[in-house]
Order: sequence, then structure tokens, then C-alpha cells
Amino acid sequence: MSVDTIAPPSSTVMNNPLRKGLRLERSPSPCVMVIFGASGDLAKRKLLPALWALNEAQQLPPGFSIIGVARSELSHDEFRQQLRDSITHDQTVDPAMLDTFLQGLFYVSGTFDQPSAYEKLKGVLERIDRERGTGGNRMYYLATPPSFFPVITEQLGQAGLVSDAAAAAGWTRIVIEKPFGRDLATARELNRVVHSVFDEAQVYRIDHYLGKETVQNILHFRFANAIWEPIWNRRYVDHVQITVAEDLGVGTRGGYYEEAGVVRDMLENHMLQLLTLTAMEPPVSFDADAVRDEKVKVLRGTRPFDGERVRTDVIRGQYGAGWIAGARVPGYRDEQKVAPNSPMATYVAGAFYIDTWRWQGVPFYLRSGKRMPKRVTEIAIQFKPVPHLLFGPTAPNVLAMRIQPDEGIALQFEAKVPGPTPRHRPVTMDFRYGTAFASAPAEAYQRLLLDVMLGDSTLFARRDEVEAAWTLVAPILDTWASEQPNDLPNYEAGSWGPEAADRLLENEGRRWRRP
Ligand code: BG6
Repeated sequence: MSVDTIAPPSSTVMNNPLRKGLRLERSPSPCVMVIFGASGDLAKRKLLPALWALNEAQQLPPGFSIIGVARSELSHDEFRQQLRDSITHDQTVDPAMLDTFLQGLFYVSGTFDQPSAYEKLKGVLERIDRERGTGGNRMYYLATPPSFFPVITEQLGQAGLVSDAAAAAGWTRIVIEKPFGRDLATARELNRVVHSVFDEAQVYRIDHYLGKETVQNILHFRFANAIWEPIWNRRYVDHVQITVAEDLGVGTRGGYYEEAGVVRDMLENHMLQLLTLTAMEPPVSFDADAVRDEKVKVLRGTRPFDGERVRTDVIRGQYGAGWIAGARVPGYRDEQKVAPNSPMATYVAGAFYIDTWRWQGVPFYLRSGKRMPKRVTEIAIQFKPVPHLLFGPTAPNVLAMRIQPDEGIALQFEAKVPGPTPRHRPVTMDFRYGTAFASAPAEAYQRLLLDVMLGDSTLFARRDEVEAAWTLVAPILDTWASEQPNDLPNYEAGSWGPEAADRLLENEGRRWRRP
């Protein structure tokens, strides 16, 4: 279908919450989502499937439309066909619902730095507004390589495609993918460009970890229960371990990874998000700024690294060849588009200290790596030992929040082994999402896209938050860049990382968990 025959929203895409007995607590207003980089990996693998899932769950507003923008020359119909191909292998798809959804898909080809692309875009947006009732509401999604973020932002402004935040005629919001800058200076510069066109209230810096149910649950677990708060501090907590392990290598993303490495790819964003949610003070309300104020305080209160502390408290690693699940896998330096002598880190472990009344002296050990033995993300709070060993040595009490997979929370404690001798061993009390809740959690992008449509920025990083995160990791990046390692690769694929990371904890009389 060409843009000349835009279909009005039909009842199957209409958000009818009562169909199938569903009730939506929050419903967004009709809008258009413009995806820059629509032919890219992120759009295909994450965004379009998430939008389709929202459609199936009847959570999209009436008239919801998508415009893909990318360099390849595609017609609206070819763009629709791409999505159809990626969805129809699923036997449960309702063909009529899919057809109606696809009618709301449009495509604009153009180069991101050319005003003509934005003129074309403007024409399509205006027609969609008229014919599908989207009321001037626009959500721009930057899913391109990061080097295009500034130019797209500026071009949108110059083309008059950004309405004033306070304007009555429709809202405009922009979603910016990670990495937001590649260091503090570039993050600041990107913020400057973004703010020359958008108000902070219109900006959504996305970190998909915040869209995960289990990550959101950290705040509910901490602040909707009275029993944890009294022990969530330096008096009771010995240390915290945050692990984000992946069994995959860099795969086809070698080119990107050579620029990023684990600090930019995981630590600066996903891992610091987990740290702030675990360590933050209770916010005064569950309002976007109240929550983010507390997260920023954690980042500001985290002891800054200097070159010396980077050398002693932060470990870098790179995987060599090895075995994962019975298969031989190549080392990082043998991956596609990776330099044969690349110094890039695929693993990081570090001891972080938060200098506040609550956390003084409690180490937060963070580690993340590619090609670990398994994919597992967890936050483990390890409590202090009992003050007097009545029954001999005890294993520590550990509260482990399993972010993924096998989502749940386990509390480990000692229990008496039945029998006449007073022996005990560790057992667990286990909460599993799969057992407690009937439905599988939604994909992170589903939740986050819906939040943007609803204008809720609680789960997005604020300007000061990203700058504080870059400030914290900057000395790690700088020190590593100036001191080339000569021991890489230093862990085998399929192992739990370099030995130096084990020593980091052993020197303090502690050990990494083997989740
Ligand atoms: C992305 C990183 O942000 O997160 C990837 O760029 C990483 O390198 C991915 O694999 C991990 O996400 P998840 O949701 O699979 O834990």
C-alpha cells in the first residue's frame, strides 16, 4: 500500500482493552513512532518484535503507526514484507491482526544528514496525522550507529519536526540508544546537542536492563517490604556481588566491540544501573525524578577511581579459545573484524565502594564477561557471619536476586540436618517467577516503548545520571588506554574469568559465587 492510501485505524489495532477480558491500567495516546536505522539489527531483532507483541497484547493506542527511516531504497510494502517474514513463522499469529498492523507501517529512505529525507518524513507524518488520527504525537527512536545521533537530532530540529514540550498540538519525544557517548566528553557533547533541540522531559536515554521485570522488582522488593530495610546496610551486609555473565562471544559484532569493550558495553550502563538500584536510598515517591535523584546520589557517592585504584581494584580480561557447552569456540582475537593483537577487554571485575552512612566499608564487587560458562545475571547480598559460632562454622546468609534466566530470588540460610547430631547445612527459600505468576514477563523493550508513549521516564537515564556514570568509569578507560596489557588473552572461553579477579576477592578473604 502506498502512502496515498493510508488506511484509517481499524478496530483490530484499536486498543480495545476489554477484548479477551484484558484491562489496561495505562493507555497511551495515538502516536507515530519513527525508527531511524529501521533496517538495522536492533530494529529487526528487538524493536519491531516488541511493537508487534504490544499490538498482540492490545496495548498500542488506536491509529498507532511506525515509520522506518534508513538508507536502503525500500517501498512501504517491502518494509511491511520484512516484518511479515520475521513474524509469520509463529503459528499463533492472527493473519487479520497482522495485516491491520502492517497497514500502519511506512518507510522513508534517505541519508541521515540530508534535509530532503526530513522533508519526506514530514510529508508522511502529516498524512498519517490526518488520516490515522495520531494528533501530531511523535516518538523518534535513534536505532542507528551512535555517530549519527547528533546529526539526526539537529536535522529534526532544523526541519521543524520537534514541537515545544509545552505545546498543545501533540507531543514529541526522542529515544536514544546506548552507548550514550563513548566517554564523559562525548556524552556531555551529545547532551549539549540534544538539549539544543529537546527539553530534558522529552529525552529518553534507554538502557534495556531497566525494562526487565526482575530489575524493576529490585525496588518493589526493597521498598514494598518492611523486613529488608533494617538489614540493608553496613551493619548486616558483608559485601554485594553483581554478576552479569554471558556465554556468547562477540559474534558478528566484532567491529562495534573493538570500539566499545566491556566497560562501555556493560559496565557504564547495565551494571551501574543494577548497582544504583541495589544501593539507593528509598525515594520520596515513585516519581521519575524522585527515583533518579536517588540513583544519581549513589553514583556521586561511589568512591572515584584513580590510576592506582584501577590497577589494584579493577581487573580486565579477554577470552582466549575454549569450550562452551561441549563446543570449541574461538578466542576474541580470532572473531570477525577483531584485530589479531586487540587489547580490548571482554571481561571486567571491580571493587566499588559507596562512601555513605549506609554503605561505608561494604564492597560491591561487580563483574561482567563474555564467554563465561553460562548466561547468568544476579545480585547477591552476602550478610555478615553470626557473632558467636555455637554450632561450628556456618555458610553465610545470602540473598540472591536472579535477574535472568530462572528469574527469582533465593535466601540461603542454615538449617539443622535431621538426626541426633547437631549438624546444619545451607538450604534455600526460593521465589520463582514462573511458579508465582502465571504469565511470562514481557520483553524489556515492550515495557520501555510503552513508557515512552505514556511519557513516563522513570526507567530511563537522566542527563546528570549518564554524566555521573561516565565520570565514574572514565579513570578505568583512561588507565587501560595508557597501559597496554601484555597478558591477554588471560581467560579461557568457558571459564569464570582471569585468575586476577579471583585474587581480588581472595585478598579480602572472600570468594566469587559460582551461580
Ligand atoms: C547489550 C550489549 O546492551 O546487552 C550486548 O550491547 C549484551 O553486548 C546485551 O550481550 C545483554 O543483554 P541481555 O538482555 O541479553 O542480558
